[in-house]
Amino acid sequence: LKKDKDYEKFFQWLQETEAIREEQKEKLWGLAESLTEQLSRPRCRHTFSVVATCDRLAEQYGVDRTQCCWAALGHDCAKENKELAAQDYVDFMAAEIDSGVLSIPALHHAALGVVVMVRQHGMIDPAVLQAIRYHSTGCAGLSPVGQVLFCADFIEPSRNNPDRAATEEACFIDLGVGCREVLRAKLEYLLHHGRPVHPSSWSFWNELVRAEHKSGERGELETAVG
Ligand SMILES: [Fe+2]
Ligand SMILES: [Fe+2]
Repeated sequence: LKKDKDYEKFFQWLQETEAIREEQKEKLWGLAESLTEQLSRPRCRHTFSVVATCDRLAEQYGVDRTQCCWAALGHDCAKENKELAAQDYVDFMAAEIDSGVLSIPALHHAALGVVVMVRQHGMIDPAVLQAIRYHSTGCAGLSPVGQVLFCADFIEPSRNNPDRAATEEACFIDLGVGCREVLRAKLEYLLHHGRPVHPSSWSFWNELVRAEHKSGERGELETAVG
């Protein structure tokens, strides 16, 4: 029933595209099928939309489109998974669980998603797993695959947050600036609502603005804030 036009569109794209390595297509299809069985229709729609947005960004910035497709398809795979308990993933090193993640329920699915991707879908590519693990918070040292997913998850067209269009524009001009603008919107929301901010987000923020200071783009700001 949930195999609606979003799924059909994805599957047609997957069959036809030359961007995805042929030997990976069957496995990606398998993952997409399992998502349509496990996730609600809106979550599936969001996921397929993130895949399409990731692919546009990956093409623009020369990032591996197969890795991006894996990361995008898998990023919210555990979002509606209520069967695995926290203990199932606490000991799972690849998920890099920390007390900051455990204390913020909205972040559980990113860590749990890594476990599901490894256990159920045999994913072992560190760039894909890191992208999924940090798709909500970002982190210092986020790979290009992770940066593409971080942006796409926020700007995909079915999102209706007020910053979406302006942020999308930034993402297609420069990937680093795009990450900064996505993160700025997320931080502003969290601060405004008095919500906790994971330390990885601050590390990511500092890395992004330092990179810009170094490149000279925002040298004046550095002096202005001391
Ligand atoms: Fe998510
Ligand atoms: Fe998402």
